[in-house]
Parts: sequence; structure tokens; C-alpha cells
Amino acid sequence: MATGGEIASLLLVGAGKMGGALLQAWLDRGFDAARIHVLDPQLAPRIAALCLARGIALGAPATPPSVLVLAVKPQVLDDVAPLLAPLTRQDTLVISILAGKTIRNLAQRLPGAIVRAMPNLAAAAASGITAAVASASVTSAQKQTADVLLSAVGRVEWLSDEGLIDAITAVSGSGPAYVFYLAECLAAAGVAAGLPRDLATRLARATIEGAGALLVRQPEVSVAELRAAVTSPGGTTAAALAVLSGEAGLEKLIRDAVAAAKRRAQELSGGPA
Ligand SMILES: NC(=O)c1ccc[n+]([C@@H]2O[C@H](COP(=O)([O-])OP(=O)(O)OC[C@H]3O[C@@H](n4cnc5c(N)ncnc54)[C@H](OP(=O)(O)O)[C@@H]3O)[C@@H](O)[C@H]2O)c1
Repeated sequence: MATGGEIASLLLVGAGKMGGALLQAWLDRGFDAARIHVLDPQLAPRIAALCLARGIALGAPATPPSVLVLAVKPQVLDDVAPLLAPLTRQDTLVISILAGKTIRNLAQRLPGAIVRAMPNLAAAAASGITAAVASASVTSAQKQTADVLLSAVGRVEWLSDEGLIDAITAVSGSGPAYVFYLAECLAAAGVAAGLPRDLATRLARATIEGAGALLVRQPEVSVAELRAAVTSPGGTTAAALAVLSGEAGLEKLIRDAVAAAKRRAQELSGGPA
């Protein structure tokens, strides 16, 4: 990552799970801590200690920052936006990761050039995937800055259509929870198949970690090929996959789950973007 040399000053508003992960990643990549302000009334002890250790200023800066990163819960926006508006100029790059808050909604509250982004929790392991869309007023230099800041926690997919964000929220934004639930279900199935709970839990967790590692190690191999490679005809995996791929199987369940998440994202943002 660039060291923040091109970024004169940055204000992070909300340093919880996501904001904290971003802050940690920026510092890990050499961003100049002296250019960062963090605004969060109740910092988690770990982030407070990080800010203290790195000399990061707490509270709002005296002058508008060149970049403002919004990482509070969406329901807090009504309270924070009036405080942030005086700190935002037209040429301030505003990066919002708030679920359900459209560029239009944000632009009505803050005068800056807005990038709307949807990261996921894997950001905390710098293995996230973030979808981002820039409003018309974002310059190419600002887009590049946003890319540098967001890619500190993983890959970034730039979109030209904000309308895709609700579906992306349903796939990758909420997705890590689906995989955690899969681990829970696999462990419970192991118990039902006769394993001690502790062992089943360790096996399920390690299996998902290992499958993820294989995906990372072999990006050129499709997931269908990886699955086929471990599925001998007439074998045990094939017996399980015949159940999973049945009519009311995993594909339908996941499709319905993603559709439900997308509907909820649309409700939260007041309709399709
Ligand atoms: N977590 C995810 O997987 C995920 C994925 C995609 C997008 N997002 C988006 O990321 C945003 C942050 O989510 P999160 O999971 O990181 O939430 P979080 O852990 O609750 O972080 C939000 C932080 O903002 C702080 N805060 C509350 N009121 C504030 C105020 N008035 N001014 C400044 N800071 C304030 C909170 O402090 P308190 O704890 O004291 O309230 C907390 O530290 C959300 O908008 C969410 O939609 C999250």
C-alpha cells in the first residue's frame, strides 16, 4: 500500500469491527499514523491501546480531512451526519461502508465526493472482498486513494452500477456468516453420526479452514473442479453430494437465503438503489 503520502489527512468515524480492521491494516501497511484522526466515543480497549501506542489523534480534527471513512452502524448515521457535515468539503473523499445507505442518501447529508463500499468480515484477517462504487463527483485520483485504503483489507471489486450492492451484500457482505453456520451444521452432523462434540467441532472447523486454503492456493482451478477432484464415483463424498445437490438441497437453500438477504438489504436502503 502507498504510505499515505498522497493522503493529507484521514478521519475514521467508528472504529468497531470494520473500522478497527481498516485502521489496523492501514497502520500495518505503513500509513502515517500522524495523519489519522479517529472519532468514536467508546473505543474498544484494543483500538484505544493501538491509537495510544501509535500516537493517533482522537476526536474530530480542527480542519476538514481530505478523506473521511464512515464506519459506524447505519442507525447511527442520523446522529453523526450533522456533526460531520461541517468537516466535509466538496473535495473531501467520503468512503462509506454503511450497509443500506445509498450514495444519494449520503450525498443529501454530506457535501463530499462519495464512494460507497461493502466489505465483509474477512477484512479483519486482511482477506476480505469489498465491492465499491464511486459517485460521479469522485475524481480518478480519489478513486485510486479509495482503492488503496480498501485494498488494505483484501481485494476490491469496483462496480459501475450501485444497484448491484444489495445482491453483493447478500453474497459476500453476509457470506462469512453462512460459512460459519456451515461449520456449525457440519459439527452437529458429526455429533449425530456418533462423534464426541469437541472432536466434531475441531474437525468441522479445520475442514473449512483447509478447503479455504485450497481455494487460495489454486486460484486457477474452478471450485467445481476442486469438488470433482475429491469425489470418486460411487464413493462416500458422492453419496453425500447426492443428498446436498437434491431438489430441495443446498443450491436451493442458498439461493433462497441470498434472496432473503437481498430483500432485507433493499428494505434497509428504502428500495433498490
Ligand atoms: N461487520 C460486518 O461484517 C460488516 C460487513 C459489511 C459492512 N459493514 C458495515 O460496517 C459498519 C460498521 O459495522 P461494524 O460491524 O464494524 O459495527 P461496530 O463494531 O458496532 O462498529 C461501529 C463503531 O462505531 C462506534 N460509534 C457509535 N456511535 C458513534 C458515533 N456517534 N460517532 C462515532 N462512532 C460511533 C461504535 O461504538 P459503540 O460500540 O460504543 O456503539 C463502534 O465502535 C456498519 O455500517 C455495517 O453496515 C459491516
